[in-house]
Amino acid sequence: MKSDKYPAIEFRNITKKFGSFTANDGISFSVNENAIHSIIGENGAGKSTLMKILFGIYSSDSGDILIKRKSVKFSSPLDAIKNNIGMLHQHFELIEDFTVFENVILGSEPAKNGIIETVNSRKIIAGLIDKYKLGLEPEDKVSDISISQKQKVEILKLLYRNSEILIFDEPTSVLSPVEVDEFFKIVRKFKDEGKTIILITHKLNEIKELSDRVSVLRKGKLVYEVDASSLDLNELSREIIGHVATEKLPDERTNNNGKETLLWFENIKLKKDNVEKLCGLTFSVSSGEVYGICGVEGNGQSEIVEAILGSEKHHSGKLEINADNVSLVPDDRIGKGMIKEFSVGENVLLREKKELIYDNKKIRDRSSKIITKYDVRLSDESAPLESLSGGNQQKVIFGREIELGNKLMVLVHPTRGVDINSSAFIYRIIIEERNKDKGILIISSDLEEILKLSDRIGVLYKGKIVSEYSKQDFTFSGEDAKKEFMTKIGKSMIGVGV
Ligand SMILES: Nc1ncnc2c1ncn2[C@@H]1O[C@H](COP(=O)(O)OP(=O)(O)OP(=O)(O)O)[C@@H](O)[C@H]1O
Ligand SMILES: [Mg+2]
Repeated sequence: MKSDKYPAIEFRNITKKFGSFTANDGISFSVNENAIHSIIGENGAGKSTLMKILFGIYSSDSGDILIKRKSVKFSSPLDAIKNNIGMLHQHFELIEDFTVFENVILGSEPAKNGIIETVNSRKIIAGLIDKYKLGLEPEDKVSDISISQKQKVEILKLLYRNSEILIFDEPTSVLSPVEVDEFFKIVRKFKDEGKTIILITHKLNEIKELSDRVSVLRKGKLVYEVDASSLDLNELSREIIGHVATEKLPDERTNNNGKETLLWFENIKLKKDNVEKLCGLTFSVSSGEVYGICGVEGNGQSEIVEAILGSEKHHSGKLEINADNVSLVPDDRIGKGMIKEFSVGENVLLREKKELIYDNKKIRDRSSKIITKYDVRLSDESAPLESLSGGNQQKVIFGREIELGNKLMVLVHPTRGVDINSSAFIYRIIIEERNKDKGILIISSDLEEILKLSDRIGVLYKGKIVSEYSKQDFTFSGEDAKKEFMTKIGKSMIGVGV
């Protein structure tokens, strides 16, 4: 940024290998003090790895990191935290059974004469919640709060530890548009206070809106750097993938609508712990259509999935499912969809057979099919799923569920954490499946995604569909009409005008 500022962080020639695979390959760049510096790149490009080195989770094989011109070598996150560095991870690390307060002080419990002292820390935490308008209650149990609130707890943790350098690894992929705006406000406030921010994202518009400078990683190398003031988004997207994007949605949409109803919720009511989660929910999905449910997380999305899967049976109303099996991409890919210690092939085979029969040939077959078709980038084929980058894990679960060939598919945030090019690929597959007469329910907080893919849209608010639209309502003559429609939907997602 400005020439009178010195770098807060300098990466010098950082290399990191996993076995024979090079995840970071001689990366050098600087992050200016008090700047918002974005890092972008394809899934598996090495972004999280580099940040984990900075945060002391991994150590590099070679190269140096300088913080405020001093060479540092952190051997654990505790070292990084002591140096006022904080990291918000791609996967949250909260204890669900603990309260907000307990999660925040965990690991840095204030003690006086060996006794945990909480009066003062409660005050500090309440002060931080207030100052940054985080909208949290310290005594809320983490298992009862929404994803965006969980993220705020993670942010609170960083603030409580006085982090001056904040690393955010894909913070917005789990947020709805309104929540993204709130998050941006918080980040801007951090900048106003002099903090330095590193932001990893796949969303080009966020880079444009928020950052001062951008670095692009591709296949472990730094390939491009630019100040936001001279940023050209087409050029940026070319640098990310190394060529001009070619993925396109299929032009033709066959018109099969309404052939056969595959999923039908009629006036479904569902209570959990005495709280109404679904409050007279009605919608249906037919073969040959994509039905998109958009809403802010926590308005009944998970209960819809639980009702479909049959794990939550205590509802009233009528629920019809006309399919033997349902493909599901869940919201929490590692927690609900996969066994993280298993390889790609094992995870795919596991879904076909209830127990894993060790058949190495089948495992290899399945994994090479998914890896090739869905362009999964990983260090080696037998690597456990947990070692794959976030977006690559997502591609595996998406590919696995599509390949099952079920006629009803439920896709929750199908492109969460997936890079631009692979998202376009996933969109194409979804439309192709729809054209093959599959019925597809998409639940997503990404409005652009819902508009692009859906034949019909339902806005979910407080456990019911508060408005429903069909394709002609969101086929736009121009950008202004689209903006107006998106604002309207965005408002109904938070209950305005419903
Ligand atoms: N612990 C590990 N063991 C083996 N391979 C790993 C490990 N961690 C990362 N990798 C590999 O290093 C590469 C880079 O991973 P990284 O998580 O840094 O990617 P990323 O740029 O953050 O991608 P995404 O956008 O999907 O989050 C990936 O191909 C991944 O498979
Ligand atoms: Mg990552």
